[in-house]
Amino acid sequence: MQVTNRKRVMVTGGAGFLGSHLCERLLNDGCEVLCVDNFYSGTKDNVAHLMAHPHFELMRHDVIFPLYVEVDEIYNLACPASPVHYQRDPIQTTKTSVHGAENMLGLANRLKAKILQASTSEVYGDPEVHPQHEGYWGRVNPIGIRSCYDEGKRCAETLFFDYHRQHQVEIKVVRIFNTYGPRMHPNDGRVVSNFIVQALRGEDITIYGDGAQTRSFCYVDDLIEGFVRMMATGTEVTGPINIGNPDEFTIKQLAEAVLAIVGGNSKLVLKPLPQDDPKQRKPDIMLAQEVLSWQPSIKLNQGLIKTVDYFRTFLAL
Ligand SMILES: NC(=O)c1ccc[n+]([C@@H]2O[C@H](COP(=O)([O-])OP(=O)(O)OC[C@H]3O[C@@H](n4cnc5c(N)ncnc54)[C@H](O)[C@@H]3O)[C@@H](O)[C@H]2O)c1
Repeated sequence: MQVTNRKRVMVTGGAGFLGSHLCERLLNDGCEVLCVDNFYSGTKDNVAHLMAHPHFELMRHDVIFPLYVEVDEIYNLACPASPVHYQRDPIQTTKTSVHGAENMLGLANRLKAKILQASTSEVYGDPEVHPQHEGYWGRVNPIGIRSCYDEGKRCAETLFFDYHRQHQVEIKVVRIFNTYGPRMHPNDGRVVSNFIVQALRGEDITIYGDGAQTRSFCYVDDLIEGFVRMMATGTEVTGPINIGNPDEFTIKQLAEAVLAIVGGNSKLVLKPLPQDDPKQRKPDIMLAQEVLSWQPSIKLNQGLIKTVDYFRTFLAL
């Protein structure tokens, strides 16, 4: 029995990079937060500062298995997000996306709870359409080394929409584009953390390809604002909705921006591109602007300064 009016919110993958920021935001908004994680790519350190909060609870659980708890809303973030992590055990990655979605949707259906899926721009694969809008069906290799993640996330979206059509589950699907900020993993191969860590250690900065490929980078606080707005929409809004920052930079520009903040003498070194790496990625965020009145407000340089500060402290520990 619920004895307060406090909203009970579950965040799967809550001990990860994005999940930990989301837990923090929800606690600040006055929610009771249940953080569920199996610590595959997340750590207790990411939520250590929340442990003493009276409305925060951490549960070790693998979403591949069913979970029986009472909550009002579910944010389903559980899934390793970087190639280094999701390719370490690709079968586990697909199972996390697919069985995890199935288990969380079953729970949402039983509880009549709203459920948000953290999907990804990877569902667009290596796109022929630029920027990518939500109506584009994507160009994904079903048998490549990234497929466990890309196809897992695509199948999860399918399950979300089938639960919505078949059982009227209130779903919210957001497609996240590259996001960065404090508590990213230092060694997971993602470009922002890679460059910052290399620059702070005074090592050369490794660029895969010629550095002309472009990416857009969203600061974590902007993204979390988009999540919360999406969850607050009425039943008619299911998504998918792109959330990301459309400002486009080449990888070389990113490396130079990091170097300008960190200083030092690191040089840029070119290495061959990995398999299936998309050449261009940029969100079309018209729908998010219209439906959520959302757009990112933090410029790359501002976000990089905060992220560099975090890694400076982290590496000094
Ligand atoms: N960060 C980005 O730029 C980005 C971009 C697109 C999509 N996403 C999505 O957002 C979500 C969070 O990403 P992140 O960057 O915080 O990654 P992350 O790896 O830091 O967080 C994922 C969390 O899920 C947990 N997890 C993994 N498998 C699990 C399982 N079977 N059961 C329970 N917990 C499990 C991990 O331990 C980790 O704490 C992921 O679903 C990811 O696909 C992130």
